Amino acid sequence: MRDILGYEGKRVVVTGASSGMGAATARTLVDLRAKVHALDIKPIEAKVEQALEVDLSQRDSIDAAARRLPGHVDALFNCAGLPGPPFSNLDTMLVNFAGLRHLTEALLPRIPRGGAIASITSVAGMGFRKNLENVKALCGTKDFDEARAWCEANPDKANGYLFSKQCIIWYTMQRAVDLVARGIRMNCLSPAPTDTPMLPAFHAQATRDFINKHFLAPIGRNATPEEMAEPLVLLNSDAARFISGVNLFVDWGYLASVEVGARPGLL
Ligand SMILES: NC(=O)c1ccc[n+]([C@@H]2O[C@H](COP(=O)([O-])OP(=O)(O)OC[C@H]3O[C@@H](n4cnc5c(N)ncnc54)[C@H](O)[C@@H]3O)[C@@H](O)[C@H]2O)c1
Repeated sequence: MRDILGYEGKRVVVTGASSGMGAATARTLVDLRAKVHALDIKPIEAKVEQALEVDLSQRDSIDAAARRLPGHVDALFNCAGLPGPPFSNLDTMLVNFAGLRHLTEALLPRIPRGGAIASITSVAGMGFRKNLENVKALCGTKDFDEARAWCEANPDKANGYLFSKQCIIWYTMQRAVDLVARGIRMNCLSPAPTDTPMLPAFHAQATRDFINKHFLAPIGRNATPEEMAEPLVLLNSDAARFISGVNLFVDWGYLASVEVGARPGLL
């Protein structure tokens, strides 16, 4: 049988591997015989090649983890994230965007032609076009420290989860264009509500009824972490070798229902 995913022996890095979608991604990649290097601020249980503690809100912590990662990386999976409250807007911006970007840029020189990057954003980021001026301003900062300074100087704009996810989408598209010349692909994935330890935080912010009424996948249930991890694994696989610059909605028809007017588009 032809192995169309092609992970056997590949070196992959997964952030957020302690829990939820990141843990499911790490487990799936171990099953596919990839050499998995996993990062998280919390302990990692998956049977990976290397588990490293990192705090993605701290540049020095990311740099220290990057120094311990291998010199050759075939694929990067950016899964870690914070939901906003109870965490501060600044921490949410740093973990979800500035830290994600800093790690990605640190590892890019080690990714060869044919390599790929996939990041988890959210359906919550889908309104990025309405906020493009601010998205471009933060994405235009040159590094982690400048991004942090911009967030600190613009607390009304750097206002947490939605904005951080909008920035991931823009950063992904911009970098995907740059990276064509190097033969490296970059995509992101927008999950509908998914049963992970993060979901109660969204319910606490907006009520479960509101989230279910407006954002639950039309099929009528939350996704499982595996239902996000597997399409993410697909995006960085050989089977997706002609896919780059895409924001893949994994939502069992949520975006379609908004586009055809069956549901109001709140974002
Ligand atoms: N669960 C949902 O409904 C949903 C919907 C859309 C998008 N998302 C996104 O999916 C991704 C995965 O989240 P999840 O739902 O699996 O939640 P989760 O809370 O189970 O996993 C998030 C992981 O990120 C790690 N993390 C948090 N802060 C960190 C830091 N400072 N440094 C390093 N690691 C850190 C956590 O320890 C955890 O392992 C996130 O980017 C999230 O924003 C989730």
